[in-house]
Amino acid sequence: MSTATLSTDTLTFEYLTRFIREKSAIVLEPSKLYLLESRLMPVVRDNGLASLPDLVTALKRPGSRDLSQQVINAMTTNETSFYRDIHPFDALKTTILPELIKKREKERTLNIWSNACSSGQEVYSIAMLLREHFPVLQGWKVRLIASDLSTAILRRAQEGNFNQTEVNRGLPMPLLLKYFTKNGLNWQIKEEVRNGIEFKEVNLIEAWPQSLPAMDIIFLRNVLIYFDPPTKTNVLNKAAKLLRPDGYMFLGGAETTMNLDVKLTRESVGKATCLRPNV
Ligand SMILES: C[S@@+](CC[C@H](N)C(=O)[O-])C[C@H]1O[C@@H](n2cnc3c(N)ncnc32)[C@H](O)[C@@H]1O
Repeated sequence: MSTATLSTDTLTFEYLTRFIREKSAIVLEPSKLYLLESRLMPVVRDNGLASLPDLVTALKRPGSRDLSQQVINAMTTNETSFYRDIHPFDALKTTILPELIKKREKERTLNIWSNACSSGQEVYSIAMLLREHFPVLQGWKVRLIASDLSTAILRRAQEGNFNQTEVNRGLPMPLLLKYFTKNGLNWQIKEEVRNGIEFKEVNLIEAWPQSLPAMDIIFLRNVLIYFDPPTKTNVLNKAAKLLRPDGYMFLGGAETTMNLDVKLTRESVGKATCLRPNV
């Protein structure tokens, strides 16, 4: 029996798992009970509380929005890296962007959404790829949008400040030297790259901002794994609606639409698998 089972009574566990699911769609299996304790005890302490049952009492009080946000921030898993699962980025470079640039030649607009962007490595990978390989886009209206539910991780993404371990994961040295400046022990993304990105708080299971434009490309990677099948289906169909008819969407390497009733068709582009809206 884990220490969490010993110290967390069933009602507390049930309340917290339901609360997290309702606010974020993240499903916590009973086997993940230890996560609840290890991630929420710092929140308990930071708020001068004594235990998880105390946290539940505080969450039930009116006006606990900030505490609620702290709980959700603590329960998100923010694993990410630069050019993660390289194939989608190769597909963008060799096939998708050349094709879309040709198609959008007249309107000269391109909208790309890095959803559930975590600390920003994904969106900065896209931004560097655009600069490196598609200088023609400098004269276009390119909207590069990065969003996440966690306000804490979104703040980190917006800062664009990465430690040595983070830049060692997937970022080629020439890109590090070209697009970052050394900042003490860390590396700071250059202003010119960061300025081109819009950061937004978006909870996938709530209403999406009206201001989101129709998208040419959506990255929706490594987030649906935390949701149950009906929520995955719902989110994917909402994203499909936001995609332009000839747009592309990417999921994480281990994610699939199998057994989900979605209005999207799988297509291979090089070694990447992408989803296209059914038209
Ligand atoms: C594992 S990271 C994925 C990061 C990046 N997309 C990648 O593939 O490297 C999962 C992210 O999903 C976010 N997330 C979890 N639930 C969410 C929700 N309901 N709406 C939006 N983002 C959510 C978390 O905050 C976390 O940053």
